[in-house]
Amino acid sequence: MKKICVIGLGYIGLPTSVIFAKHGFQVHGVDVNEIVVKKIANKELYIEEPGLQEALEEAIDSGHFTVSTKPETADVFIVAVPSPITKDKKANLDFVRQATKDITPYVRKGNLVILESTVPPRTVEDVMLPILKESGLEIGEELYVAHSPERVIPGKILTELIKNNRIVGGINRVSGELTKELYSSFVKGEIHITDATTAEMVKVMENTYRDLNIAFANELAKLSLKAGVNIWEAIQLANNHPRVNIHYPGPGVGGHCIAVDPWFLADLDPENARMIALARETNDQMPQFTVDRIKTIMKEHKLASPKLALLGLSFKGNVDDMRESPSLSVMELLNKEGIEYRIFDPYIKEQRVPHQTMSLEDTVLGSDIIVVLTDHKYFKEIDPKTLKNWINSPIIYDTRNCINEETWEKAGFSFYRLGDAKTR
Ligand SMILES: NC(=O)c1ccc[n+]([C@@H]2O[C@H](COP(=O)([O-])OP(=O)(O)OC[C@H]3O[C@@H](n4cnc5c(N)ncnc54)[C@H](O)[C@@H]3O)[C@@H](O)[C@H]2O)c1
Repeated sequence: MKKICVIGLGYIGLPTSVIFAKHGFQVHGVDVNEIVVKKIANKELYIEEPGLQEALEEAIDSGHFTVSTKPETADVFIVAVPSPITKDKKANLDFVRQATKDITPYVRKGNLVILESTVPPRTVEDVMLPILKESGLEIGEELYVAHSPERVIPGKILTELIKNNRIVGGINRVSGELTKELYSSFVKGEIHITDATTAEMVKVMENTYRDLNIAFANELAKLSLKAGVNIWEAIQLANNHPRVNIHYPGPGVGGHCIAVDPWFLADLDPENARMIALARETNDQMPQFTVDRIKTIMKEHKLASPKLALLGLSFKGNVDDMRESPSLSVMELLNKEGIEYRIFDPYIKEQRVPHQTMSLEDTVLGSDIIVVLTDHKYFKEIDPKTLKNWINSPIIYDTRNCINEETWEKAGFSFYRLGDAKTR
């Protein structure tokens, strides 16, 4: 039985570990965070992901999945550690560097090392290989290395891990083929082999494409107010065109990928990556746009010092992931403006930020404006009649186009939607 050592047991590393364990591999998961290791060893999840609890229990009970804070010798090493950006929007590769250093004493002749973290092009070649060379093994001959970027979306990780097409990029042909063979054990999608740097480029290009497209939608949302249209309706109609696929606007772009990865490209060649940087800035300005709209609504309703009820902390619907969430930026801007608020997210079950409450009622009771920041199914299903009894002045601002205007208006709410001049 082949043994895999997975470094980093987060949103990517943990599901990847349990899926390999389920498909006949002996997996040893490693995380530097002792709390994470303890929880996983006790079959407790610290991230929400459909199906993951059962899959984790099965993996541990079968004896095919062990965890600790230290790597072990194995046939394959998979690195799935964070790759954030610094304050000045440059790639922080410290985790990738450290994880590579951590595994180097354990690699043996014939092993395969795979980087799953999303990284700027040339990271495998320029950052990982010099460290791995310290093992004394001949790179490409005795030690194979590849990049296998991940395309899964939180909320559907376990199904997408299997179904998605993958790109695997080897430092040479053998590394690419060995990586393809490994993932073929469970991947039902197509696996395309390329070189490591192209694979790195492809992954960041994909997320940058989405960021640019969302920035376009956000710009259209601003223009719609001048044009006097509902941009959601206009985009839906434009997307009837067989070759048009415009994304949708919102209060900002969050998460660990789209809000981060485009900077990896922008930083490669700032002179020539102007559109990429502009798109990032456009999306980063959306929390300010959201707060400006809230202030306009306050003026319209003559609310000098209202209490806001913010709904949603995570960066997208039906997940508990609040990394880079626009809600956090909206809160920061409201703090600066001295506007009072409480915030509730049914997916975030622990107190994570100030002004967070643990129930919808505690957030809405005595408030003046409800602002929907995340399109959780939970919020779509709220009965406005109940909230009418809790709120002081029934006003709702939907930044995600996820609330039914008619139902809320019927219940007596003044309804506003981001990018919709018709609801002004
Ligand atoms: N989350 C996603 O949906 C997604 C999708 C595609 C790609 N990615 C990429 O995958 C990578 C991992 O992302 P994630 O969301 O799983 O991150 P995460 O923060 O959820 O998990 C990373 C884990 O790595 C651990 N870690 C850090 N350094 C370590 C080390 N030296 N040894 C062992 N453990 C270490 C951390 O403690 C953490 O638990 C990132 O590069 C990310 O951009 C993420």
